[in-house]
Amino acid sequence: MKIKENIQWVGKIDWDLKKFHGNELSTFRGSSYNSYLIRDEKNVLIDTVWTPFSKEFVDNLSTQIDLNKIDYIIALHAEPDHSGALAYLMEKIPGTPIYCSANGVKSLKGYYHKDWNFVPVKTGDKLNLGSREITFIEAPMLHWPDTMLCYLNGENVLFSSDVFGQHYASEFMYNDLTDHSELRWEAMKYYANIVVPFSKKVIKKVEELKAMNLPIDLICPAHGIMFRKDPHCIIEEYANWANEYKENQITILYDTMYNSTRQMAEAIAKGIASRNDGTLVKVFNCSNSDRSEIITEIFRSKAIAVGSATVNGGVLASIYEILNVVKDLGLSGKKAAAFGSYGWSPSGVKHISELLQSAGFEIVGDGLKSQWNPDENVLAQCFNFGAEFSA
Ligand code: FEO
Repeated sequence: MKIKENIQWVGKIDWDLKKFHGNELSTFRGSSYNSYLIRDEKNVLIDTVWTPFSKEFVDNLSTQIDLNKIDYIIALHAEPDHSGALAYLMEKIPGTPIYCSANGVKSLKGYYHKDWNFVPVKTGDKLNLGSREITFIEAPMLHWPDTMLCYLNGENVLFSSDVFGQHYASEFMYNDLTDHSELRWEAMKYYANIVVPFSKKVIKKVEELKAMNLPIDLICPAHGIMFRKDPHCIIEEYANWANEYKENQITILYDTMYNSTRQMAEAIAKGIASRNDGTLVKVFNCSNSDRSEIITEIFRSKAIAVGSATVNGGVLASIYEILNVVKDLGLSGKKAAAFGSYGWSPSGVKHISELLQSAGFEIVGDGLKSQWNPDENVLAQCFNFGAEFSA
């Protein structure tokens, strides 16, 4: 696909992908592995595709250019979803220089055990293509130590690696041809599940990009949709998301054995909604909901309420799982409360509060416990608990 004069997208759209990072992350809208071919006096290939598509990628690429006329390869990021086809490609053009960060050399050697013609580059280094040049911008820990962005002058294109990416398959790969709310959700889901632990670095990198004052007409991430209409919008989104982002939403997460905690969750939701103050409330049973989607909902929430039945003195497994994952993401600036049912030991609620606190949430109140099956009186308490929590 031609995306600019003498720039082609030569990647792979993966409609079939439903899980990423092994089985860790859901990708309900598939993904794409974006690779770009820039032609000038010197021709350069930016990134490749995921390993299973190596042959398809190289075969397609060779219908577009004599592989021996690729003068340089740029590996912005060594993760195998972008470097996977490199091994097969390098069998065809073994001496081609590979421009990457110093950490990229380590990662690529670590994955492929090859002594390719690596050319380590750092921020500010340039690669002259003839009529245009590429400037490298290191972006360590966004989201790997090796990550780099690069900028093509003349065409004003920022190739941004995983940054600004989304797992979103489409044959119409521009933001102005894409449903905005779907695109925003997928970009936010990507941020919330992959980038959020590195938010401090995002803030610095966005500041650095702004200070460089580069004219940007097109942002080309390594996954999903490219931004050509108001491309700065996704940079501004990242600046917001990195800064303790929250919407006017409260998310209720629970797990339940015999519906007691479920009834509590639903009554709390009605209490939150009763204030009718514009706060959005959503309810998820963690045992049957997709974890990556829930994390995205937590990310956009100003507060969460978490409930579980007490079991073996602790809580149900799906609550442990979600709170442990959230802890590792390092969210901040959000409030939380605990609730739950029990038979003979009320320790589950205290347990949830401790887990939430260690995950960085500010705990509101002592939580709400209910023995056995909640009656009308308890459900009214839950309703009031929701209204007070929201307030
Ligand atoms: Fe899309 Fe970090 O690889």
